[in-house]
Order: sequence, then C-alpha cells, then structure tokens
Amino acid sequence: MTWRGIIFDLDGVLCFTDQYHYQAWKELAGREGIYFDETVNNRLRGISRMDSLKIILERAGKSYTEGEKASLAEWKNRRYRELLGKMTEEDLPEEVRETLDGLRTKGYKLAVGSSSKNAKFILSRIGLADYFDAVSDGTDIARSKPDPEVFLKAAGRLGLEPSECLVVEDALAGIEAAAAGGFGSAGIGEAAGHPQVTCPLKSIRDLLRML
Ligand code: BG6
Ligand code: MG
Repeated sequence: MTWRGIIFDLDGVLCFTDQYHYQAWKELAGREGIYFDETVNNRLRGISRMDSLKIILERAGKSYTEGEKASLAEWKNRRYRELLGKMTEEDLPEEVRETLDGLRTKGYKLAVGSSSKNAKFILSRIGLADYFDAVSDGTDIARSKPDPEVFLKAAGRLGLEPSECLVVEDALAGIEAAAAGGFGSAGIGEAAGHPQVTCPLKSIRDLLRML
C-alpha cells in the first residue's frame, strides 16, 4: 500500500504523558478513597477523560451525580495540566524527532489524531506547536476512540482519503478506531499485538525503514 499521510496519536507515541495521567488519576482516586493501580491505568489509554473517569468509578463504593463527575474530571485535569507544565522540548524523544523529519523529507503529509483536549498544549510544551499539516484532537470530536471520528477529521484536514493514511497508535482503542475508519495502522507497544493492526512496530523508527 502506498500511503500519502501519516496520522500520529500523541500520548504514548510522540511523547510520554502516561506518568502524569497516572499521577493525577491516582491522587484523585486517593482523595475519593477509590482503589487505583497501573492495571486500571492501562485501561484508560486512548479513551476520553469522561470515559476514563467512568472506569475509575467502577471501584467506588458510592454513586456520583453528573455534576460531581464533572467536578472530579475538572480536578483531575487541573492537576494533570500542572504536571504537564513540567514538560519541555527535552521531552520530545530524539527518535521521534528524527522519524518525523525523515518522513517529512520523504514527502508524507503529517497529522496528529489525539483523544486529548490538551493535545495543543502538549504539542506546544514539546516544541511541535506548528509542526504538523493538521491536528485533530479531543476538542474537535463528539465520540472518542474506538470511534474513528478523530482520524476521519485529521484525514479530511490533510485532504486525503482514510485508505491513503496510516495511523500510528499505542492504544488498542486506537487500532480499533483506525480499522473502523478504513485506515491502515502501525502499532507500538501493546497495540502491536492487536489482531487488526496492519504493521506491528518495535519502535517508531521502524516507520522510516518501512515507508
Ligand atoms: C489520550 C490518552 O491521548 O487522551 C487518554 O491516551 C486520555 O489516557 C485522553 O484519557 C484524554 O485526555 P485529556 O487530556 O483530554 O484529559
Ligand atoms: Mg496513545
């Protein structure tokens, strides 16, 4: 297949914000007396903030009103953004920078497709604010991954069909979203083992060898 566009997930692919999500959710769960660990955290990868909260509250001993849930999500996001404030251009891994530059030199159009409403903030922290040809994120969509909406928006902004784009993902929900939208997918980490993945990757650098 000849791809013309590459759509990158952000968290876990271009940079590593997992520790900050983990810390903020863990503090929130602690305040509410809810059990939370890495296994629960792994289930939150790729899905929206409110869907993540729903999973965390599965272990709560009481039920929460919609208003309470909204304030919990807001508290988590405030704490998460405080932690994101520590990120700098140094948090853009060298292999990511080299891969992006290499793909651009080869003539691919490059986009971001992220469920996060903080995507533009994170991109600016790591020095990629103006790098991509298109950015589609949590502020653009009504349905989060595994729905393909965020990738369809990114492809549309690149002026390409889904079948012309390869999605790069670390989340199982992201590979599912790519398949549902008619995109090819390249999977990193646990996403490399998803049965619907088109190309499993060991590292993001494999893209340069492959494309
Ligand atoms: C995704 C993360 O990129 O963004 C998820 O993998 C997160 O873990 C989601 O829940 C939404 O993030 P935010 O920044 O809008 O709370
Ligand atoms: Mg991700």
